[in-house]
Amino acid sequence: MNLSMKIIKNITEMQNWSRHYRCENPDQKIGFIPTMGFLHEGHLSLIKQAVESCQCIVVSIFVNPFQFNNPDDLKNYPRNLERDILLLNGLDQKIDILFIPDSDDVYKNGRPELIMDYPDITNKLCGKTRAGHFNGVLTIVHNLFMWIKPHVAIFGLKDYQQYLLIKKMTNDLHLDVEIKAGQLIRENDGLAMSSRNSRLSSEEKNRALIISQTLFKVKNEFESGNNKVLHLKNILQNNLSHLEIDYASLYHSETLEELNEQDNASGALVAVAVYIGKVRLIDNILLN
Ligand code: PAF
Repeated sequence: MNLSMKIIKNITEMQNWSRHYRCENPDQKIGFIPTMGFLHEGHLSLIKQAVESCQCIVVSIFVNPFQFNNPDDLKNYPRNLERDILLLNGLDQKIDILFIPDSDDVYKNGRPELIMDYPDITNKLCGKTRAGHFNGVLTIVHNLFMWIKPHVAIFGLKDYQQYLLIKKMTNDLHLDVEIKAGQLIRENDGLAMSSRNSRLSSEEKNRALIISQTLFKVKNEFESGNNKVLHLKNILQNNLSHLEIDYASLYHSETLEELNEQDNASGALVAVAVYIGKVRLIDNILLN
């Protein structure tokens, strides 16, 4: 039980707490797991991973309005703070701080004025149809790092592009935070875990299984020696052709450039975004 978990809602209080903790515990590390709530096994696995290298754990919950390009998506994003708090309180691992900043405190003028960007990458894959999404993500993550001052922060690989961008920002700005990748966690049937899955009906959940099945098929094919991009891309697109595809292809895992069809797919990121009903789902797999 985690009944000692402290909830902080105010940014200044968060900064004071962090300054004090770092001063009093110079040999200990603060591990940070940023979330938008509606916690699931995927988030819990990030917490478990943080506990392995950090003595102090901070989790944040903030549904960041500026990473939603679509007002309906923001409105329908699942939220249940009471359940999240109960879940965190019930964990075996100790959580020190749950940071739940208030939107008015985060965005003093109702919106961020300083915006982070990597135009070469933020506009690809998810950024192509979700204009501004990654600018919102980078900006809030940068700010959370400034307020919480973690030593380590963990990001799940389901959001591969997000992980890549945050790692790049952290390196380029010398933010002194170690960025770790958290394994992509799947349901037993293969569906990548996401808070958005709660919006799928059971029939839609069944239909969504084709996403991970297709990725596994591509990986099997690659591992059995059929490693040309064109061949693997065809499998991907044929298998998903009955769905509304946002993107589905093979990409360079650092630049996110789509790979040339004649290339060998070794090291590629196979990434997919499709709509199941009204819900947009993403998934990916690395070929190595
Ligand atoms: O992955 C998420 O849940 C969000 O994009 C993050 C990193 C918490 C920023 O709002």
